[in-house]
Amino acid sequence: MNDGDPSAAPARVVVAESSALVDGGRGARFEVGGRPCFALRVAGHALAWRNECPHTGGELDWSEGDFLDADGRYVVCATHGALFEPSTGRCVAGPCKGASLEAVAVREEGGLVVAE
Ligand code: FES
Repeated sequence: MNDGDPSAAPARVVVAESSALVDGGRGARFEVGGRPCFALRVAGHALAWRNECPHTGGELDWSEGDFLDADGRYVVCATHGALFEPSTGRCVAGPCKGASLEAVAVREEGGLVVAE
């Protein structure tokens, strides 16, 4: 049990207020361990991924926080247009087809989305 010693607690990153993530809406950018990540709400669940395209490692958003295509159906990489299923992170079209985004564990507590 943590006796109040912050050095004993795992790093906790507040990603966004839960209400800020809506299905089909903008994503929330954040960092874990110095690496860029993003969170989306997909079918009511907050999900998060490293913001690193499997093709080149570059960030995916085409405008800061905008990750989805016009239909809100796929995450689209701004660099070469790869499409990813937002629920699984799997690339379904583009130069990294078959590869996947790296998942980041997030949970919702007290009206916040947090990552550890
Ligand atoms: S960098 Fe993402 S598809 Fe090429």
